Amino acid sequence: MSERTNGTTNGTTATAGPSAGPAAERELNAERLLRVSARHSHDPLTEIDWDAPQDPDRFAIPPHRVSLYGTPLWDSMTHRQQARLSGYELASTISAGIWFELVLMEGLVRHVYESDLTTKHAQYALTEVADECRHSTMFARYLTTTGYPSARPTRRAQRLGRLHFLLNDTTMTFAGAIFVEEYTDALQREMIRDDSLQPLARAVARIHVIEEARHIGYAKPELERRWAAMSAPRRALFRQGLALLAQQSVAEVIHPRVYALAGLDPATARRAAAANPHWQRSKADWARKAVLFFTELGIIDRRSEYRWRRASLLPGAPG
Ligand SMILES: [Fe+2]
Ligand SMILES: [Fe+2]
Repeated sequence: MSERTNGTTNGTTATAGPSAGPAAERELNAERLLRVSARHSHDPLTEIDWDAPQDPDRFAIPPHRVSLYGTPLWDSMTHRQQARLSGYELASTISAGIWFELVLMEGLVRHVYESDLTTKHAQYALTEVADECRHSTMFARYLTTTGYPSARPTRRAQRLGRLHFLLNDTTMTFAGAIFVEEYTDALQREMIRDDSLQPLARAVARIHVIEEARHIGYAKPELERRWAAMSAPRRALFRQGLALLAQQSVAEVIHPRVYALAGLDPATARRAAAANPHWQRSKADWARKAVLFFTELGIIDRRSEYRWRRASLLPGAPG
């Protein structure tokens, strides 16, 4: 497959010496990321105070980022109920994060398996797997600490995960990682800035933001290189595939169970959220950086942008 040819070519050229070129740049980037990882890696199990008391009136994410904010249903809720819903929405986002990290780890391990571990590029991929292992453990601990009932993904997500394993498409793994990491990064940066929020939620966000910046710095140039080498027919498929992945990943973020847990009728609440312009705006805001990057590369263009708009990931009225 073209994936393997690509990986082998890059791996071979990387050992050819310091001459400039995509493979040498790839090694330099990986070397820098390995250095930063050695200096700034965190152990959330010992660095976070998991036993600190939780204030039920504090929000976990900024109120205006809760999916029902600004709707009549939101206005009918008590402050504590709104705060509780914000906690469940963060927990649901975190649960989706675990699902995505597991899919990403599988993709990265496969990438390493097909690469040469004497390259810094492959060594960094393993370092990223180690980061994601700690993150998923941290996320699971957050769920159990806050009483969220499950980290199982929906059936839709399980199908998407199986499809990803089956297609064995490393380029899609990197593109999906950029989308999900930028999307969650945007929300988590807002959480870090807002000191009225739950300290536990902010501590989790802080560690994740620090370590994810490296992952984005690894995936972006890799996607650029792979996209540049991709044939026109494959690009056409890739545009549609990534739009579908983004749309399904965002749909996974808010599990309908959060509304029932907050004491609301799930069907009514889902409809209210789907039609809520504040919620559509939040999704477009969090997707902005990834969308900009994909647009610059030409992965989002006139042929695929309608899918992004329909998923509220591009500003403007959803179709
Ligand atoms: Fe992560
Ligand atoms: Fe990551």
